[in-house]
Amino acid sequence: MKQPRETFSTRFGIITAVTGSVIGLGNIWKFPYLLGQHGGSAFLIVYILFIVVLGLPVMLAELAIGRMGHSNAVHSFHNIAPDTRWKVVGALGVLAAFIILSFYTTVAGWTLEYMVNSFTIGSDGSPLSDPSAFFNEFIKNPVRPVLWQLLFVAITGAIVIWGVKRGIEKASKVLMPLLLLLIVVLCARVLTLPKGLEGLFFLCKPDFSKINAVTCLYAMGHAFFSLSLGLGVMITYGSYIGKSERINRIAGHVVLSDTIFSVLSALLILGAAFAFGVQPDAGPSLVFVTLPNTFNSMPGGAFFSLLFFLLLAIAALTSTISLLEVVVAYAQERFRITRRNATLVACLGSLVLGIPSTLSFGGLKGVRLLGRNLFEFFDVISSNIMLPLGALLVVIFVGWLQSSKNLKAEITNSYTLKARYFPALHFVLRYITPGLILIILISGILAL
Ligand code: PHE
Repeated sequence: MKQPRETFSTRFGIITAVTGSVIGLGNIWKFPYLLGQHGGSAFLIVYILFIVVLGLPVMLAELAIGRMGHSNAVHSFHNIAPDTRWKVVGALGVLAAFIILSFYTTVAGWTLEYMVNSFTIGSDGSPLSDPSAFFNEFIKNPVRPVLWQLLFVAITGAIVIWGVKRGIEKASKVLMPLLLLLIVVLCARVLTLPKGLEGLFFLCKPDFSKINAVTCLYAMGHAFFSLSLGLGVMITYGSYIGKSERINRIAGHVVLSDTIFSVLSALLILGAAFAFGVQPDAGPSLVFVTLPNTFNSMPGGAFFSLLFFLLLAIAALTSTISLLEVVVAYAQERFRITRRNATLVACLGSLVLGIPSTLSFGGLKGVRLLGRNLFEFFDVISSNIMLPLGALLVVIFVGWLQSSKNLKAEITNSYTLKARYFPALHFVLRYITPGLILIILISGILAL
């Protein structure tokens, strides 16, 4: 079912859209608290190892499937392997995108509340003068977090509705340079605080005694989450990449940028935590409590707080755009409906799961699955199970079911580029990546 479809119009547009997807709350909100909880830089080392042996090959495999299959996450499999059941992998991806979108917009919404409240920092009676009380009250509130979530979904929808070039690409080209500027300014500010460099020292002292099967599962799950892998984002975006682009370079740039961004975020957040004398193991509340504490006691705190939560909101937005696009591209092509209708349905649908997940910190706190509230449950099953499983099936598809010639042709633009690394890549994709994912997945699940 091949059909003419949009492509990104410039290389800069491709890079910004793909990095926009990978850089997100995962880097700034999740990564630093995972580091804080799982042994600091020991986690970082395991994580970087997974990025190289799992992340990079899977990213390349997904981009190749998308460009080869030239369709959404489901139909790309169908186009490459008609009359097989591999479409199911794409469908699993669309479902995972839907689930992640639902809880991701909860936190994305919180960032908007914090942006607004940043203005009050330093003034009498500022709600943020006691960040911990504020956070605990706010997330329990039955109305405000939901309204912010609705707004965030609406903004995401308002961009995706315009399509690949006029919506996603245009927004990414503006938002990503801004994001880079913001992180550089904020890092410079925090690292020059008294004790701001302690975060850096913390990262230089790995504690390997904290590494076990569960830590590895979290590091692997996070590698896939942070690189937006295992759920069809790269397949969908790959299908919008022109035939003359070098997908190996794109994958390399994107993986490197994501990792650098995570390390910068860790320096920023851990630096802020240490400067204020708190331990970085607070979990998900880390950036919403620790950081405002630091801003409260910093000259110009209101301004830096605004910049920080703007950074979080923008990072989240370029990621929600890609999550929504996976669902919209599928719905549009599968049911032959307009992009407008597909976007509306996908946005509303994501709220059906998303609102209960937002409320799971307050009114729906008692609803527990696997001992977790809905938000944590969706997070754990998607990051630690669905994404690794999706990635595993993708590498089996590419490494074992496709001929290596097809993959090589796609990566080398029909043999016009040299790829001396190809035999090594193919070996890793065939033997190392699937084996490693399988071992970690099984041992991690058993130890959960
Ligand atoms: N990679 C994004 C982040 O780090 C999250 C994401 C996951 C986006 C999966 C798209 C798909 O925040």
